[in-house]
Amino acid sequence: MSTVNTRKQILLAFEGRPLCFVSGISLARQLGITRTSVWKHVEALKAEGWPVVSKRGEGYRFTQPFDFSLLRSSQFPLPYFWKVRYEFDTVSTQVPAKEAAESGLSEGHLWLAERQTAGRGRLDRTWESPLGGLWMSFLLRPQIAAGRVPSLTLVTALILQETVKEICGLDLRLKWPNDLVIETAAGWKKVGGILTEMSGETDRTRWVVMGVGMNVNNTMPKSLRHIATSLVSLKDRVGLIIPRVALLTDFLQRFHSAYLRFQKQGFEPFRPHYWQMYSRPDEPVSLRTSQGVLRGIARGVDAYGALVVESHKQIQYLREGEIVS
Ligand code: BTN
Repeated sequence: MSTVNTRKQILLAFEGRPLCFVSGISLARQLGITRTSVWKHVEALKAEGWPVVSKRGEGYRFTQPFDFSLLRSSQFPLPYFWKVRYEFDTVSTQVPAKEAAESGLSEGHLWLAERQTAGRGRLDRTWESPLGGLWMSFLLRPQIAAGRVPSLTLVTALILQETVKEICGLDLRLKWPNDLVIETAAGWKKVGGILTEMSGETDRTRWVVMGVGMNVNNTMPKSLRHIATSLVSLKDRVGLIIPRVALLTDFLQRFHSAYLRFQKQGFEPFRPHYWQMYSRPDEPVSLRTSQGVLRGIARGVDAYGALVVESHKQIQYLREGEIVS
């Protein structure tokens, strides 16, 4: 067995045994290797960052409940369009995706990581990406004018919303342009976001890298708990682990058909549903844009994905900016 496979088998031996010790002897027997060799592999896994500890006389255990479904993902049937590249650790899944985009790789490739050491959000913010979340970037080469790419972000947000409803039964809402949010007793909190990067000319898109971050089994650091939460925290069931691969495969299936439709018909068929899922339709909104702050009432989104805001009895189309309240 290759080193990678041996290590994968060691990790999978902890599946379904949260916080329980697995002895070195049983791992050695199971894998047909020596105990010393098990020890060496576990040390290497620890060095990589896997949350494993050892105890003399007891063996090894995971220090946190863990969803192993992505580690198994190569064994899961994925819709044909997609080619997944899974890594434990990466700086940001956007990095290899953009490099590949520049080097001419075909669309449908997807980079997935258990954690990111320098995850990036919109507007050059950092994005917390510890173990347990769903962090991925995928490469698209849509046959559309560059001006239509923002509305593809909105379609992606809508498909994520549908996926979470289907797999977790949670009713997330959308916040323009790229956030998935939920209303809690303590106010609106962010659950996921999308970072869209692209290259092209005004009338031709060369590539789009869509980065999706969803807080799934990770709990939020204290400093973010007032503004962000994760799917598992919303489920309120102790010990529950959400299988991220179910979210992933459902999303990829739905997104692929939406993407084909989007390329033929544009954003129009998705527009009413996007607005139906909107977090605060027809409510006062404040936006920070490159032109300054705009206050008004959010009235809808247009065919290009711009936010339509009524301000001082005039309709404005916001193509960039951020909702601040
Ligand atoms: C945002 O809401 O600001 C967008 C967040 C996007 C985060 C995802 S996680 C996967 C991909 N890699 C990154 O570094 N960022 C995106």
